[in-house]
Amino acid sequence: MMRLVPLGPTDQQVPNVVAGMMRIEEMTDEAIRDLYEGCRAAGVDFFDHADLYGSSRHGCERRFSEALRLSSAERDEITLQTKTGIVADDWHFDHSYEHIVTSAEESLQALGTDRLDVLLLHRPDALVEPDEVARAFDHLESSGKVRAFGVSNHTPRQIDLLKTAVTQPIVANQVQLSITHSTIVAQGLAANMAGEDDSITRDGGGLVDYSRINRITLQAWSPFQKNFFDGVIFGAPEYPELNELLDRLAAKYDVTPTAIATAWITRHPAHMQVVLGTTNPQRVADAAAGSDIPLTRAEWYGLISAAGHKVP
Ligand SMILES: NC(=O)c1ccc[n+]([C@@H]2O[C@H](COP(=O)([O-])OP(=O)(O)OC[C@H]3O[C@@H](n4cnc5c(N)ncnc54)[C@H](OP(=O)(O)O)[C@@H]3O)[C@@H](O)[C@H]2O)c1
Repeated sequence: MMRLVPLGPTDQQVPNVVAGMMRIEEMTDEAIRDLYEGCRAAGVDFFDHADLYGSSRHGCERRFSEALRLSSAERDEITLQTKTGIVADDWHFDHSYEHIVTSAEESLQALGTDRLDVLLLHRPDALVEPDEVARAFDHLESSGKVRAFGVSNHTPRQIDLLKTAVTQPIVANQVQLSITHSTIVAQGLAANMAGEDDSITRDGGGLVDYSRINRITLQAWSPFQKNFFDGVIFGAPEYPELNELLDRLAAKYDVTPTAIATAWITRHPAHMQVVLGTTNPQRVADAAAGSDIPLTRAEWYGLISAAGHKVP
């Protein structure tokens, strides 16, 4: 069964397994429809996009709407999230008023919808002016074009800086997290230990705790990748112990290792969302089966330990 979690401090309940649309550009219309139907059948009604995804700006957003041609009634049944702030030409980041507003309006058009349910700032912009972000969010909110706002790959301090001007709640922070690439969790376990790589703070410090304190929903991107787009953990020869444990727990709970890797994230009390990247409807169903598996503490710690992280 799909477990629902609150979206930030809002009243909206959203599934804790969601579908990332970064890899759909080359799929046929029929394959995109099959993926969408597979998601809906599994209770995944939350779709994650970005203006960046695809070989041209808004490419994947456009493929999604062209292939699905959702009626407005069906549009109302789903949550559409997209992102702004990365410019692929001369790769750089841009949180200026003009860029945020223009890109959000282009996303509306590409997705064939009249509002974005959630808009995230994709990566921190070192040149950010919080007042400009606030002005862009106010405009997009008051014109009804965007319902809720969030960030991605932001540190607690970067969020605090935005909040000096932004008045809307930051509902989500989408960050990289898998059992192997689990720095945001591992650093808390190895806190203050000398000579341990895991004790190094890589997220500005206390991102997970900050998110719980401030009711910001963490969304885990690349939930099955070993590290950065270098292949999935399943069957990876570098992780024999981890795969052995995934297989053993899969047998115990009568699910696939994909469900166990999903459950390792959903079991965390921060009520995180897992952002799947698969283009395969069966794998969506496999992952969705991990939405509400009550891994024991020993199992949860066993997985992060088997992935090579320090449980001191
Ligand atoms: N905010 C950010 O900065 C950021 C960065 C990257 C990604 N994202 C978001 O996060 C989403 C997920 O990222 P991701 O695509 O890297 O996640 P992922 O689910 O960890 O990886 C997906 C890739 O792994 C393959 N795969 C998945 N399960 C598999 C399995 N059991 N066995 C073999 N191969 C498997 C998929 O192939 P198949 O399609 O064949 O299953 C696909 O190529 C993206 O769609 C995007 O929405 C956000």
